[in-house]
Amino acid sequence: MKEKVISWPDQKKAGMRKKGEAIRLSGNIVPSSFLCDWAKGKKYFIKTYGCQANVRDSEILTAYFNLLNMELADNEASADIIIFNTCAIREHAETRIRGELGRLKPLSRQNPDLIIGLCGCMAHESEPLKDLVATNKHLNLVFGTHNIHEIYSLIENCVKEKARVFNVTSTVDTVVEEYPEARFDTYKAFVNIMYGCDKFCTYCIVPYTRGQQRSRKVECVVEEVKRLKEKGFMEVTLLGQNVNAYGLDFDNQEYDFAYLLEQVALTGIPRIRFTSPHPADFKENVFKVMAKYKNIMPALHLPMQSGSTNVLNKMNRRYSREEYINLVKMLRSYVSDVRLTTDIIVAFPTETEEDFLETLSIVKELHFASAYTFIYSPRVGTPASRMVDNLTPEIKQDRFNRLAKVVDEEATIDGKKCVNSIVEVLFDSIDDVIGFIKGYDEYNRLVHVKADPSLIGKIKKVKIIESHTYSYIGELIEK
Ligand code: SAH
Ligand code: SF4
Ligand code: F3S
Repeated sequence: MKEKVISWPDQKKAGMRKKGEAIRLSGNIVPSSFLCDWAKGKKYFIKTYGCQANVRDSEILTAYFNLLNMELADNEASADIIIFNTCAIREHAETRIRGELGRLKPLSRQNPDLIIGLCGCMAHESEPLKDLVATNKHLNLVFGTHNIHEIYSLIENCVKEKARVFNVTSTVDTVVEEYPEARFDTYKAFVNIMYGCDKFCTYCIVPYTRGQQRSRKVECVVEEVKRLKEKGFMEVTLLGQNVNAYGLDFDNQEYDFAYLLEQVALTGIPRIRFTSPHPADFKENVFKVMAKYKNIMPALHLPMQSGSTNVLNKMNRRYSREEYINLVKMLRSYVSDVRLTTDIIVAFPTETEEDFLETLSIVKELHFASAYTFIYSPRVGTPASRMVDNLTPEIKQDRFNRLAKVVDEEATIDGKKCVNSIVEVLFDSIDDVIGFIKGYDEYNRLVHVKADPSLIGKIKKVKIIESHTYSYIGELIEK
């Protein structure tokens, strides 16, 4: 098949940063009559991997397909276009995607017109992508995280020219402020407040896949939240790779994250969360705003990565063990009931047993309610991938297991503590167990309650009666 390369990713360029504020674009694109004709009676299927940023991107792709009047296919076999929205954060994520993509070969043999597309973070890894494209000839559309609003012209290219089309832009100084609307949930929505990341933690691929930091305008974010509220949404999660660096890329830095958070709180939307903040970018003013507004939830996911200053330095995290501890103390002084969760990487290159013990001890000292734990995974093109990885697979697994045990112990303690407490649950769905509905409390704990499904979409007072550590059983105490 013919190949049309509009742009091929260049990881080195993707790592470059230029000064100046982003150019604002609208993503409200009108499809051509050719594409509308092509789309008639056709179905799409999207498989989403990775973080909330990808979930939000898949919603946007869904909105573009909806505008073409395309239907969501029940499965891959009945789809005319299948999109893999991929994640590159760890080797494991990529291996899974490669496997699933390979599985589609027979399907594309049966239907030569089938479009199989790949977007998301894997599309930005220049070297691995070459191999992926060579070994998966049935993959006929690849586009990057900055090319989502170009989906119509990309599909049109594929169809008209019967070509494999590649378009992964690496450098980007634009922000798409407006997209057509589609949400997967009925009561909770993700709202992007910024794109990209300028932090360059040495292990991380994200600054190369999502590009340089670009913040959205305060007015655009607030408008989006107001629209969601009018439609009956009860909760928004403000999204960004590093939300508290919000606004640092504006020419005139008069707006920071605390300001934006306050403006969102003032919309009166019942619940606000945000993820993820970076410990080095926290200013006290954010905690002040969190303490001031009841609709900002008392739950914070604050990625720590390691409890050893030595390792944090090698990771380029820009804070020490003590600074992280002090930050948590400051947070708790403003929001005393805050539920704190984190991300931790073990077995970063050259991590010693002493370094690792510092991670174990900080988990006990700070009492995280839960933590996502990972074994370090080298990513091509990142500085850490060039460091000497001197740890054996056995040591890595052993540290991971020991950490998981301590994290579970802390989570169990936290879980037991909240039994008998009264919380407010926003019910969002029916549980598989007959007669139960479920939702999240203000602390972001999953709570199951035996109650009528008519309560879905409502916030109700619930007494926690049982802890299963990562989920809870509650009793409705409000009609
Ligand atoms: N922007 C977010 C993190 C996004 S990635 C933040 O900085 O908070 C989510 C988590 O994946 C990270 O917090 C880190 O713990 C983990 N992670 C990232 N790169 C990794 C790698 N190369 N190996 C293992 N874990 C990694
Ligand atoms: Fe990756 Fe660090 Fe940016 Fe998070 S802050 S996305 S870990 S580079
Ligand atoms: Fe994965 Fe990209 Fe998110 S690498 S974690 S999908 S930003």
